[in-house]
Amino acid sequence: MNKDFLLVSDFNKADIIHLIRLAIAMKNAEHEEDAWEDGYANGEPLFLGEGHLLALIFEKPSLRTRVSLEAAMQNLGGSSIFLSKDEIQIGKREEIKDIARTLSKMTDIIAIRTASHSNIEEFASFATVPVINALSDLEHPCQALADLMTIYEKFDKFENINLTYLGDANNVSNSLAIASSLVGMSFTFCGPSDFSLNDEIIKQSHNLNKDSLQIEHDPKIAVKNADVLYTDVWASMGDEATIDERKPIFLPYQLNTEILKHTDKTPLIMHCLPAKRGNEITDEVIESEKSIAFEQAENRLWIQQAIMNKLIAGY
Ligand code: CP
Ligand code: NVA
Repeated sequence: MNKDFLLVSDFNKADIIHLIRLAIAMKNAEHEEDAWEDGYANGEPLFLGEGHLLALIFEKPSLRTRVSLEAAMQNLGGSSIFLSKDEIQIGKREEIKDIARTLSKMTDIIAIRTASHSNIEEFASFATVPVINALSDLEHPCQALADLMTIYEKFDKFENINLTYLGDANNVSNSLAIASSLVGMSFTFCGPSDFSLNDEIIKQSHNLNKDSLQIEHDPKIAVKNADVLYTDVWASMGDEATIDERKPIFLPYQLNTEILKHTDKTPLIMHCLPAKRGNEITDEVIESEKSIAFEQAENRLWIQQAIMNKLIAGY
């Protein structure tokens, strides 16, 4: 097993299924007020993190990722410390390798959100404790595992499930493409040709599973057989200034009631949040009864507990 969780492919299919089952067990135990007894939640072994400290380094804003990580560590019995961009000034006040080695002496696990994935890789290579990618320009692996958990809760399987993503090829769609190929789910990417998945992600997905990934540029065709429709912002954090030029290009890929008329299966609607209503998704669709965006958000907490449990305790 890898020391870190930087890419969704750091876990294999068996690991992912185990993490999802553990996360669901913890969620059920909590919802049923069934205590986590003797290091177990509904029969699944559970690490109790008393005395453990999680450090969070966030160079970009966050609601779900920060709160789910901090709450998860508290639920496990540990605590957390949040370090903002201005506070540690990566590469400016201090070099990445020095921050990584210093924090490793004082904390038990570190989550980092930064623009450049190579910074996270460098950080992890110098850290002696597990490092979690809390979002980079390349991937958002914690989000993808929460999304798989949410889909698994609904369908109890991944085989023969069609997940269709509409919009921008970004960290979220990259992780979803790879996650889908790892668990054997069908993933259709649909976006403007100039903003499509890059060759490296396509190659990785095909190497893991030659049948999982499809690319379809016509949204009416892409949504037809979907069990789940997913979208994310058209301009990710750091690229917000490009939204006005992107809007007309992305408008045909908006998740709205018109596009839903072309679906055969009344699909579930997913969004990692935060959402820009009126851009990638309409208010009507995200608020509709088929939307499970807030179940996804809740599952960030449960999967985060399972991920930290595995990285620290090994199971
Ligand atoms: N989905 C997600 O990662 O949300 P935050 O940016 O608020 O953490
Ligand atoms: N693609 C988005 C995801 C936010 C959770 C971004 O990077 O801003």
